[in-house]
Amino acid sequence: MYRIVSKRELAENVDEFVIEAPLIAEKAKPGQFVIIRTTAKGERIPLTIAEKDPEAGTITLMVQRVGKSTFHLSCFEEGNILKDVVGPLGKPTHIENWGNVVAIGGGLGLAPIHHICQGVKEAGNNLTVIMGFRKKDLIFWEDKMQLLADRVIVTTNDGSYGMKGLVTDALKKLIDEGERIDMVICAGPVPMMKAVADLTRPHNIPTIASLNPIMVDGTGMCGACRVTVGGEVKFACVDGPEFNAHEVDFDELMNRLCMFKSLEKVAMERFQE
Ligand code: FES
Repeated sequence: MYRIVSKRELAENVDEFVIEAPLIAEKAKPGQFVIIRTTAKGERIPLTIAEKDPEAGTITLMVQRVGKSTFHLSCFEEGNILKDVVGPLGKPTHIENWGNVVAIGGGLGLAPIHHICQGVKEAGNNLTVIMGFRKKDLIFWEDKMQLLADRVIVTTNDGSYGMKGLVTDALKKLIDEGERIDMVICAGPVPMMKAVADLTRPHNIPTIASLNPIMVDGTGMCGACRVTVGGEVKFACVDGPEFNAHEVDFDELMNRLCMFKSLEKVAMERFQE
């Protein structure tokens, strides 16, 4: 029984679900994800665990309404039951006391980043979080990040809140100012992660990206989530979802994410009829 304990809209098209899943809440580690189905015939939706509460037996997930399945999920309310929640899946983030860590989350990328940041702080790191959004209305979880991090920088593309520009502008400023950065961890849209990797590579700043490919089974059997890292094929669901960002073929990942766009459009139109 995966009961929805609470649901709230965080921003336009983004919902936060707290779900009763005691075994997952007990075992989940930063970086791991679950795959949920709303109904027996529902599509599998991979979602990173943004937060867990082992005492309450709950996990927190963020969902962006991007297609039929996520729109269907957004129709679920507090008290409703999800068909299944499988997890925790994927490898936990390898976390050490690196020193000065910059964690970068773009939009929904804040889900993995929040959980990872909890681990980063527990390991004794100094943590700067850069959160990027298109505009002020889309910002969420700034309060949670403020509680967690030593410093939070919010960027908006239009300058309606925080620093005007992209997360990479904020990161570049830190680098240009000569700050020592021992590790960068990023999650969000693929172009954002690619830009972060391109920025840190010449400075030899180790960089981890939490990837978000299409997933089906989540157990390494179907190959849907394959990505190329350092010239080798990896399955994000079992080998990742985090990889050395300097070695990820982001262009291939972007192409693969667009593969089913036309079919997704048709499914969405039928759902809305
Ligand atoms: Fe099927 Fe990773 S989702 S192999």
